[in-house]
Amino acid sequence: MTMSLISGLFAKPSFVVQPIGAEWAEECERLHGESFAFGWSKVDFESYLTDRDVIADGALANSGKLLGGFIMSRLMPPDSEILTFAVDPVRRGGGVGRMILEKHLENLERLGARLVFLEVADDNAAALKLYERAGFREIGRRENYYLLADGSRRAAINLRLEI
Ligand SMILES: CC(C)(COP(=O)(O)OP(=O)(O)OC[C@H]1O[C@@H](n2cnc3c(N)ncnc32)[C@H](O)[C@@H]1OP(=O)(O)O)[C@@H](O)C(=O)NCCC(=O)NCCS
Repeated sequence: MTMSLISGLFAKPSFVVQPIGAEWAEECERLHGESFAFGWSKVDFESYLTDRDVIADGALANSGKLLGGFIMSRLMPPDSEILTFAVDPVRRGGGVGRMILEKHLENLERLGARLVFLEVADDNAAALKLYERAGFREIGRRENYYLLADGSRRAAINLRLEI
């Protein structure tokens, strides 16, 4: 085996962020289930991914066969709301999340969004950092909003970005 083949086996996939449709529902179910205490089903994703008011972008690699992460928002110009956002646990910490969020915000703006809203758990350090860096500002807090798998609860932080 040549060196280039060997290094190719270990190379990090290079992701491109593109719109995704219902063909990715099953993979979204998997990534979501590995990212949140209460996962959404394939049917939930089929419904979102065929909803004309939902904008979904995924990080694709390997000629469009590998989904490294995805984000979905509901768009009602001038408002939009990020519904969910997840990166495959094995791909985290490598900038995939940032790439997805940046491209998605560009797409939302191009499609008429001027405000982007979202809710995030107050202990989600990685997501909070990503959103703060993108320019989101805190506009509210809901105590005990999220129920965790162990039965405990966490507050949600409401964030808003003007684009
Ligand atoms: C939030 C999430 C999408 C980020 O994806 P990612 O690919 O790991 O993000 P990136 O690699 O682009 O890193 C984002 C930033 O968070 C930082 N970060 C990563 N893990 C962190 C941690 N545990 N604590 C603090 N900061 C962290 C990174 O250093 C990076 O900041 P930098 O650019 O200043 O270095 C991913 O962690 C995830 O899927 N989490 C579970 C689902 C979730 O929480 N979704 C968001 C709900 S609102």
